[in-house]
Amino acid sequence: MIKHLTQLKVKNVYFCRIERHCFYFSNSFKLDKQKIIQLLQTKGDERVGLLKESQKTKNRVVGNKVYFRGLIEFSNVCEKDCLYCGIRKSNKNVIRYNATDDEILESCRFAWENRFASVVLQSGEIESPAFTKRIDKLLKKIKQLSNNELGITLSCGEQSRETYIRWKESGAHRYLLRIESSSRELYYKIHPKNRVHSFEKRVEALHNLKATGYQVGTGVMIGLPFQTYDDLANDLLFFKELDIDMCGMGPYIEHEDTPLYNSRNLLKPKQERFDLTLNMIAVLRLLMPDINIAAATALQAIDPAGREKALAVGANIIMPNITPCNYRREYQLYEDKPCLDEDKELCKNCLEARVELAGSEIGYDEWGDSKHFFNRANRLSEL
Ligand code: 5AD
Ligand code: FES
Repeated sequence: MIKHLTQLKVKNVYFCRIERHCFYFSNSFKLDKQKIIQLLQTKGDERVGLLKESQKTKNRVVGNKVYFRGLIEFSNVCEKDCLYCGIRKSNKNVIRYNATDDEILESCRFAWENRFASVVLQSGEIESPAFTKRIDKLLKKIKQLSNNELGITLSCGEQSRETYIRWKESGAHRYLLRIESSSRELYYKIHPKNRVHSFEKRVEALHNLKATGYQVGTGVMIGLPFQTYDDLANDLLFFKELDIDMCGMGPYIEHEDTPLYNSRNLLKPKQERFDLTLNMIAVLRLLMPDINIAAATALQAIDPAGREKALAVGANIIMPNITPCNYRREYQLYEDKPCLDEDKELCKNCLEARVELAGSEIGYDEWGDSKHFFNRANRLSEL
């Protein structure tokens, strides 16, 4: 079983027993690209060993708690035309919406009253003074309605550094911006090559977010057409290099109304994309043991127990959808997106049951911030 892992040079070595085989594992793995590629492709017993090791690492370093982030997809208006995304600007089959402030605040109140402790505000990507101002005001109102208790993560795309600073001052403290693929070449196969979709600008936005002091999350889609194991290994190394605090990665799922649908003959079967996503999560947990990793909703579009399976192999964050039900059908980034009809209450009950089934505990009333963020701050203060 995973024999190549035994050859690793590790710090803080401790002894680990998997079935009848013994391995050395470290607190923080130093895996080179070849080893990562091998691990991503493991099958059978070797794979079971990898997934178990990742679960153990999670429990040892970040604990067995799962933190809820109430996800509010408040607008599907988008200036971008990503070739894979169902709400891309050119998709005329989508009815565009913008939830009102009151609707958003009602969802936030639900999250707060149900002890979720955090919300994620997500939308299509828009850069405009009016949008900046709107989010700014909303952040203040959310803090007000919850006695400053609700933690707020933003997932509103690339913005100027000034905007990131302004939103942070108004109450956001985490930001999600997926790089989608860290390979420049692949990035331009899944995005139009123009000023609005610049790979360099996206990387720069991630650096700006870090410099502004957010807990920064990024991620990629897994199983994209044209994507290789080499690309995926580089994605994981990119996360490590960028020293991210959080990660959300999910399987790519084709959407009929998008240009990338034409390349669907290049795709791995959905089950393989699913298994590969779990492998990515497991290897990332070994590479960066103290970050927060989300169990992506897209996993559940392939396997009804997809999110629980991700929790069992290394994820520790789940994002119950608390978007007002009437808008959910218009936020279909990919096909078979789950929870379209379940209202907030149902979604909460269902996820509670799912987390328990996965053998984890829910961290109610806790922000569940990234340990990595604070560990880094401590390391810096010791210098
Ligand atoms: N399949 C899977 N994930 C997708 N996303 C967008 N479109 C798809 C798709 N077709 C993901 C992107 C984006 C996140 C909000 O949803 O990674 O960053
Ligand atoms: Fe939403 Fe179950 S996770 S209904």
